[in-house]
Amino acid sequence: MRASHGLGAAAAGMLALAAGDLRAQDAGKTVWDGIYTAAQAERGQAVYGQNCANCHGQQLAGTGEAKPLAGPEFLSSWSGLTMADLFDRTRTTMPMDRPATLSRDAYADVLAYVLKFNGFPAGGNELARRSETLATIRIEAQRPAAAADATGAGVLAAAHEAAPPNTEPNPYAADTGFFKMPVGRTMGSSSAVGVDSRGHIWIAERCGANNCAGSTLDPVMEFDAKGNFIKAFGAGLLLFPHGMFIDAKDHIWLTDGHSEPGKGAQVFEFDSTGKVLRTLGTAGVSAEGPDTFAEPNAVVVARDGTIFVADGHTPAKGPARIVKFDATGKFLKQWGVRGAAPGQLEVPHTLALDTRGRLFVGDRWNNRISIFDQDGKFLETWSQFGRPSGIYIDRNDVLYVADSESREPQGYGYHPGWKRGIRIGSAKTGAVSAYIPDTEPNPDKGATSGAEGIWVDGKGVIYGAQVLQKSVVRYTRK
Ligand code: HEC
Repeated sequence: MRASHGLGAAAAGMLALAAGDLRAQDAGKTVWDGIYTAAQAERGQAVYGQNCANCHGQQLAGTGEAKPLAGPEFLSSWSGLTMADLFDRTRTTMPMDRPATLSRDAYADVLAYVLKFNGFPAGGNELARRSETLATIRIEAQRPAAAADATGAGVLAAAHEAAPPNTEPNPYAADTGFFKMPVGRTMGSSSAVGVDSRGHIWIAERCGANNCAGSTLDPVMEFDAKGNFIKAFGAGLLLFPHGMFIDAKDHIWLTDGHSEPGKGAQVFEFDSTGKVLRTLGTAGVSAEGPDTFAEPNAVVVARDGTIFVADGHTPAKGPARIVKFDATGKFLKQWGVRGAAPGQLEVPHTLALDTRGRLFVGDRWNNRISIFDQDGKFLETWSQFGRPSGIYIDRNDVLYVADSESREPQGYGYHPGWKRGIRIGSAKTGAVSAYIPDTEPNPDKGATSGAEGIWVDGKGVIYGAQVLQKSVVRYTRK
């Protein structure tokens, strides 16, 4: 470089200002400030799938020598360093078998995906490709104190977040041994429970395990109001029963969230004898389409027979959409833009309709409920009920929300300050009035515990279907 003279120095100064580097440094930017875009992370996911997943794993959990790229271990080793450190390390040494073979853009994109997977928020600007700019962004495992936000907005947010509803009274007693399984059967993981008009309880469990693939067991089980086993059906039909809905005709609707050739990725409608009345989706075809689902999570049926299906279980992958069908099963429309902005969806895990016909979508990844009208118009966001895995709304608009995933540490389920359990309140006002704590002593050690699926019978008895504990718990008023 030539020694600078007057004009050069001025130009250099202007360049630095234009690049925004100095401003970023002054403001002390961190990975919490929305330093990549959702679209970039999506591109990065493709890069990751092609160049990194074979060693670091689909879930970034690491395999063998290849370290995890998400979670506490990864974050604590990088916390305090800058994005330039992470970028340069990755670019010069990865992919391990052919380092520095991707473009700078591709490295920036893949790191955007890594940031997203670790729970850092997306923002309006893409992650930079220049090391000088990246050097101004610090990696911080913990969100810096909101009080440092000069605008005051952060202080307000902190005050609001200071009291997540973990302390509302628990007026319920739990019965973990209510259901009498038939001889030779043990309950598998379940996220699907419902009660019909006779008070019979229907449970879809994952064949004594967490998956029905290869099993000859009947996963859909009927119990009477006393918990006695009546019958079971569905062997060989379902791989991964996920969401259940019982309609006004006592038909049992189930989604199958997995697929293999010729099976899965469908929604089933059964009558109470176990006859398949109808299927939606195409068996074994996991894809976004008018007559296919990628990973159908949940189904609800309105009084007039209109069917809503929530599709997409994996963050940053495949659809995150609501699909609407008429009563005959004809595709009408779909909606859902992936992202974290109001009205966008990331993992629409559970659905419920209130008495006004508003559709409550439990967006688990975004730690919130998004409320839509039946044409997909976004109405409201509610975060006060926790990280929703399951939602039930009764005929009086009492809202029950099961949080099975909130965790303190960075990474999957990150939702500091929020405890798992069932929050109960009003679907009219949004007020939370009761809270049934999860009983898992060490929730942060795993991704799930407590109820994922939830249903409430006409007398106010709550049923919570649990994946980790492989049981369905019955809660009655004390
Ligand atoms: C052939 C296997 C392989 C592939 C492909 C691969 N990695 Fe790695 N990676 C490793 C191994 C092994 C380590 C641990 C050894 C080391 O630190 O160099 C590692 C370490 C890392 C680290 C450092 C982790 C830490 O906390 O110290 C990062 C970051 C990383 N890889 C990112 C990537 C990205 C991004 C890709 C894809 C563009 C990728 N790797 C592809 C094997 C691989």
